[in-house]
Amino acid sequence: MVTIWTPDLGPFQGPKYLRLADAIAQAIAGGELAAGTKLPPQRLLADKLGVTVGTVTRAYDEAQRRGQLEARVGSGTFVKGQALALAPASGEALALDGAMAPLGPQARMLSEGLTALAQDAEALHRCLPYPQANGLPAQRQRFLAWLAGQGFALEDSQLLLNHGGQHGIHIALQALCEAGDTVLCEGLSFPGIKFACQEQGLKLVGLAMDDQGLLPEALEAACKQYRPRAIYLTPNLQNPSCATLPLERRQAILALCRQYDLWVLEDDVQFMDPAAKPQALFQLDPERVVFLSSFSKRYAGTVRLGFMLFPARLRSRMDLGLRASTWTVSPLVLELVSRWLAGGQMDALEQWLAGEMRARRQLADQLLPGLQGEASGFNCWLALPEPWRASDFSRAAMERGVRIRVAEDYAIGRLPAPQAVRLSISQPGSRQELTLALGILHQLLLEGPHLARAVL
Ligand SMILES: Cc1ncc(COP(=O)(O)O)c(C=O)c1O
Repeated sequence: MVTIWTPDLGPFQGPKYLRLADAIAQAIAGGELAAGTKLPPQRLLADKLGVTVGTVTRAYDEAQRRGQLEARVGSGTFVKGQALALAPASGEALALDGAMAPLGPQARMLSEGLTALAQDAEALHRCLPYPQANGLPAQRQRFLAWLAGQGFALEDSQLLLNHGGQHGIHIALQALCEAGDTVLCEGLSFPGIKFACQEQGLKLVGLAMDDQGLLPEALEAACKQYRPRAIYLTPNLQNPSCATLPLERRQAILALCRQYDLWVLEDDVQFMDPAAKPQALFQLDPERVVFLSSFSKRYAGTVRLGFMLFPARLRSRMDLGLRASTWTVSPLVLELVSRWLAGGQMDALEQWLAGEMRARRQLADQLLPGLQGEASGFNCWLALPEPWRASDFSRAAMERGVRIRVAEDYAIGRLPAPQAVRLSISQPGSRQELTLALGILHQLLLEGPHLARAVL
């Protein structure tokens, strides 16, 4: 029977014939077009899609070139038996293993920002000398005004500008802890905290979590057992689990930190639509919390610029950490970014990111039901259905050209990791690539683990 299959070319980009070829690839990966299925006659499909027959011919040719279709003389065009050798046409893996900002307006922002700066001789002159302070007064003012707009009303003495989130973690641990101290964190956590603790001779202990994040009872038990100095937490879109701590749990955790006299290091580097963010721990208890964020996920990794907010009494310890590690940050980078903050470009970019991520998440939800994480986040978390193990799923995905991360990559110490994977849906260069990658994962889930993997 002829399949009157009519794809929606909307999510794909580029020339029409390539969009159709990608739609064919996605339908095969997603199981909509099974091996052996006959594709619609070219004229029929051209009429349905409102394109020329030539466009359909080119699309079928492209899909044949990719090894997904075969033309049988006199019978038509069919989905190939092993069309799932769906590695991307370029032969390069589709990467969903690193949370980075999708690229849209960033290059234009950079070009316009640098051009304006290049034409402002006075500003350039101010940025030339060896920096004595942590940012020029006007730059710090722009930061403080932008932060006030985000709900952080601060004194100048509560702000430190640094070289990004990882640098902030390093400075904070140096300021708050001494070698030999215990630091707590979520049982699955951003690996950068492991490196920083190892380097500074700190013992890192991971705590149990559920799908809303860290469990207060686990925190209380660890406070009694270890007498820790500090806790490192990612309350919004936790990396990797994508959990966001609800307000009551934030309050319960802070109450325990006050009771057991713990510093709180709040990491808010991961992107989330500002409109969707609950109150920060720092906003709830500005005397106990050190807040850190950066522009790596708000703009792109190239801007090695971050900021920390903290109680004013920590000022000299923070300054020491900054000076000991890098003296201070480049006034030129500060000038560029602080102009984006004052001029509204950064807010506009965040809105674009939130919209782009919501559109990507919609695509992901269609193919992979059950994804966890707020809709604007760069990552999603997928608890794998039985009988998949995360390591097998990741290996099988890699064999089909898709790179992902497993929970184990983030486990602290020897805590057991769940059979779950992290998918960075922000990373593919286009929604089209993302759709291909997700289609491949969807197909794997349908197939289940391969028995051929069994060993003696
Ligand atoms: C939770 C978390 N904190 C910090 C960082 C590091 O941030 P930066 O690139 O600004 O150093 C990352 C990077 O992925 C992260 O996921």
